[in-house]
Amino acid sequence: MTRRHNFAFFLLIPFTYASIQATLSIPDITDEYARLNSSVEGRLSKGTPLALPCAIASGTRSEECVQIQQGYLDEAQWETCQTTGAQCLLDYTNTSNLSPIAPPRECLLGSIPPYFIDVQSEKDVQAAFKFSEHLKMPLVIKNTGHDYKGRSSAPNALALWTHNLKDISYDSEFVPEGCSTPSPAVTLGAGVQWKDAYAFAENHNITLVEVWSDSTVGAAGGWLQGGGHSMLSNTMGLGKCCGIFPLDNLQFKVVTPDGQYRVANACRNQDLFFALRGGGGGTFGVVMESTVLASPQVTLQLVVVSFNSTDSAWTRELWDTMAANALQWAEDGWGGIATSNIAIYINPKLDATEASQSMKPLVELGKKLQSSQVEGAQIITKTFGSWGKFYEWFAADNVAITGISLALVSRLIPKANFATAESQAELVQGLLDTSLATPRLIILISAPSSFPGDNSTSVTEAWRSSIYHITAVSSWNWDATKEEKKNSYAKASASIDNLRRITPDAAYQNEADVYEPNHEISFWGSNYERLLEIKYK
Ligand SMILES: Cc1cc2nc3c(=O)[nH]c(=O)nc-3n(C[C@H](O)[C@H](O)[C@H](O)COP(=O)(O)OP(=O)(O)OC[C@H]3O[C@@H](n4cnc5c(N)ncnc54)[C@H](O)[C@@H]3O)c2cc1C
Ligand SMILES: *[C@@H]1O[C@H](CO)[C@@H](O)[C@H](O)[C@H]1NC(C)=O
Ligand SMILES: *[C@@H]1O[C@H](CO)[C@@H](O)[C@H](O)[C@H]1NC(C)=O
Ligand SMILES: *[C@@H]1O[C@H](CO)[C@@H](O)[C@H](O)[C@H]1NC(C)=O
Ligand SMILES: *[C@@H]1O[C@H](CO)[C@@H](O)[C@H](O)[C@H]1NC(C)=O
Ligand SMILES: *[C@@H]1O[C@H](CO)[C@@H](O)[C@H](O)[C@H]1NC(C)=O
Repeated sequence: MTRRHNFAFFLLIPFTYASIQATLSIPDITDEYARLNSSVEGRLSKGTPLALPCAIASGTRSEECVQIQQGYLDEAQWETCQTTGAQCLLDYTNTSNLSPIAPPRECLLGSIPPYFIDVQSEKDVQAAFKFSEHLKMPLVIKNTGHDYKGRSSAPNALALWTHNLKDISYDSEFVPEGCSTPSPAVTLGAGVQWKDAYAFAENHNITLVEVWSDSTVGAAGGWLQGGGHSMLSNTMGLGKCCGIFPLDNLQFKVVTPDGQYRVANACRNQDLFFALRGGGGGTFGVVMESTVLASPQVTLQLVVVSFNSTDSAWTRELWDTMAANALQWAEDGWGGIATSNIAIYINPKLDATEASQSMKPLVELGKKLQSSQVEGAQIITKTFGSWGKFYEWFAADNVAITGISLALVSRLIPKANFATAESQAELVQGLLDTSLATPRLIILISAPSSFPGDNSTSVTEAWRSSIYHITAVSSWNWDATKEEKKNSYAKASASIDNLRRITPDAAYQNEADVYEPNHEISFWGSNYERLLEIKYK
């Protein structure tokens, strides 16, 4: 690995300390790094590509390399510098193939910051802010690195790695600082991942609004600050944060760029609190911990209809049935996920009898698929005693894609699109047209449709009048040219135009097109102006 100084610093969207010029003009700052290292008690390390041990082994596969090859698709992937093509990627279709990193090819840092701090306390973050200001070097915060826009890495930046901030605690009478009303709450260190939080919630017989698709996403980082959604959002809200619960139910501890360690909640630093609840990760400060409301354990009813046929006539029928019933099902408390050949719905509000009554149209469709002998047609109904038990079942067969370079686009679909038979038909046609171009379209039934907002959060208010969040992706392999990557972005963006045409400007910013038109309004709606003021402050 060579340490490179690529000064053409480039980011896809405005982010945290973008105002700091990325003009790193000092060729050798070894002493500065050494001083920084001692101020963070020796926790400064060099950033390295994941596949570096395989490049070093060059042909002779070390034990470490074999493990990396086997686990390659478990890790999110944002190491390539898309401007220069510098990278150290494996072939995701065959991770045994080492030719992508074998000489004469080099294993390069790409967009990986050359140095990172393993953050253990707010003092480390304060030291990093000082260093960044002194050297005019940008900072990035990396928690899990799952960000779909690459916002957790950047070339020639200093990285704050929050992964090891793993404390979790439960307090049945948590009172936010400066407030007076107690409520049951869980405090999550910035590095806690959902898999840790699930286990914790199970042991304490409580429910947190959990992420649906991948238990390695962080619970307190970018997901929460972007207003993360889950299959329980319809009934329990976005990231337990968005105005559904009494205002004083959540608190952040955060280091702001002026180096102050602050508490933000409904009683202290309210503007920062508002900004951190939807404004987006890496934008207003470095969160050290966040406290979220703990709800009682829920019983979940599950209904699944799936088939194996790739005949799009059956996809149309599945999506027609979903669209025709979407308003009623949202009101009945259903959330879930669907693709071209499966619909998974869960409900924490209904008992088994009510659930089967409510989901009759879907089960009828399942029966029709079976009697038409559609390949692999099946209907599953089950009851689970908690989210954790449901997730165990779900995760056995359904995991989100990781380890692949991709462009992701999305759209929020409001209730209005489900209002009439005509608008439903138009929507289903739009979904089919999108999935023709980007076949891995996912329908996430994860909008907080049952919750009115109270303006205390900064996600776009469009979330509340929506029912579906649609995502589509277009991917490429390690050997794609810059032109092919550009085309992939363009293809994904064009595919969601089929839905843009018939919906208002609204999308979930954590899972969105980096070229989203009118992105200020799409991501933050009427909250954008206030967010901008807070950012300047
Ligand atoms: C496989 C997969 C499944 C997903 N499933 C869902 C889902 O079900 N629901 C959903 O809503 N989203 C989902 N997402 C999207 C997810 O919410 C975003 O990728 C989110 O940005 C991840 O946050 P993170 O902290 O884990 O990741 P990171 O990439 O580490 O961070 C994301 C952003 O937040 C910033 N950040 C991280 N930690 C902090 C901190 N402590 N303080 C300030 N800023 C910070 C980073 O700088 C970066 O800008 C999924 C993503 C993947 C890859
Ligand atoms: C930082 O200091 C520690 C402890 O002295 C040392 O092990 C580590 O290599 C140093 N990091 C760098 C990047 O030099
Ligand atoms: C994967 O790559 C290895 C090493 O190059 C090769 O031997 C093997 O045949 C490849 N497998 C497939 C399925 O292409
Ligand atoms: C959770 O519920 C189980 C079963 O009712 C009970 O045995 C256990 O003590 C409870 N745990 C906590 C921490 O309340
Ligand atoms: C559907 O196809 C997959 C992959 O071929 C197979 O594993 C699965 O058993 C099939 N499901 C049914 C219900 O037939
Ligand atoms: C939120 O703000 C909107 C627009 O300013 C306003 O119409 C609405 O009444 C507000 N809602 C609450 C609960 O304050």
